[in-house]
Amino acid sequence: MKRNIVITGGAGFIGSHVVRLFVNKYPEYNIINLDKLTYAGNLVNLKDIEDKPNYRFVKMDICDFDAFYQLMQDEKIDGIIHLAAESHVDRSIKDPFTFAKTNVMGTLSLLQAAKLYWESLPEKYEGKRFYHISTDEVYGALSMNHPEGIEPPFKTVASSEGHKAYGDDFFYETTKYNPHSPYSASKASSDHFVRAYHDTYGMPTIVTNCSNNYGPYQFPEKLIPLFINNIRNGKPLPVYGKGENVRDWLFVEDHARAIDVIFHKGKINETYNIGGFNEWKNIDLIKVMIKTVDKILGNPEGYSLDLITYVTDRLGHDARYAIDSSKLQRELGWNPSLQFEEGIEKTVRWYLDNQEWMDNITSGEYEKYYQDMYKGR
Ligand code: NAD
Ligand code: TYD
Repeated sequence: MKRNIVITGGAGFIGSHVVRLFVNKYPEYNIINLDKLTYAGNLVNLKDIEDKPNYRFVKMDICDFDAFYQLMQDEKIDGIIHLAAESHVDRSIKDPFTFAKTNVMGTLSLLQAAKLYWESLPEKYEGKRFYHISTDEVYGALSMNHPEGIEPPFKTVASSEGHKAYGDDFFYETTKYNPHSPYSASKASSDHFVRAYHDTYGMPTIVTNCSNNYGPYQFPEKLIPLFINNIRNGKPLPVYGKGENVRDWLFVEDHARAIDVIFHKGKINETYNIGGFNEWKNIDLIKVMIKTVDKILGNPEGYSLDLITYVTDRLGHDARYAIDSSKLQRELGWNPSLQFEEGIEKTVRWYLDNQEWMDNITSGEYEKYYQDMYKGR
């Protein structure tokens, strides 16, 4: 079946993996990658598919209602997969306005343009879909009431060896929203708007909330690519607080596969949590990265441990995220494909093999931002 799909934020980290998957898997679709190309957007991420006949890039700000409404009509858009966002918690602490603008007003602008266009058609919402990609951070923070770790209730392929849970509660689809950072507050707000468009106007919407992603093409302000690059360059590794915070990590291509399954088979107005049951304390994860980079570079074991530098904690730093994705596994048959230790090794190798990609991003303006960010920590 032919479909005309807009993927927003397709030049970013997760978006580029989603665009690549859809362009390669669905030659009959017309895929439009809509992206403003902020500091986080990089078309180099899509070099391998840019000439495919079913792919087109459009530079646009999601806040530009008129331009998006026109695009909907010109391209007869019947599906929207919305990933464009400001995505970094530390930036949101410094500049919350940009987050409200893009994440809240931008999402609302897309919803309203889609509503006006789809309601103008004879078939209205029939066969249409507005799929909004969100984060588990909207649920707030979980307690760390088992700091030494306990046997977890579930395991998946993604779960690391000797996998532990650091508390006995998890984020479920029914967990009440309780965002703490300006980033998660803006994402929570956008999630509410998406659901409101279903409840009020009958728009066919879906929301998914995913745990922390890792893998190739992630902007090096986020923990994993930042630390891989710093280890390679012998630069300090700024660990916030005591490094005891817990995150739940999923390989980005597994997230992209979940988005494919949910876009095609997910139920309208449902929420699905996406994650691999793979909790890690930051400091333990950092030691795995150090070991992996040192091994690949031929350094003696423990060589880069001295780079660990404890710095002032992030304001409002959420203690623990851990997501229960069993609904998605049970109802739609999705499962992660990659075990965490394999995924980290693959990721480290990718960054070390793609130094030019990293150097292009970390030179110039970003270097100045990075220095400012860590000044005084
Ligand atoms: P990213 O920062 O790497 O990429 C965001 C993309 O959106 C960039 O290409 C940027 O140019 C584009 N963009 C930003 N503002 C825009 C605007 N106003 N108009 C058009 N395009 C704009 O982000 P990511 O990590 O790939 O995250 C993608 C989505 O997934 C976000 O909605 C994020 O909240 C969500 N998410 C991310 C994670 C994660 O671990 N990274 C986990 C769960 C959910
Ligand atoms: P990050 O990759 O920014 O993702 P998020 O804040 O959305 O979870 O950070 C992951 C964890 O790593 C988080 O607990 C904060 C911590 N962190 C550091 O300790 N040092 C750093 O330089 C960064 C960027 C993150």
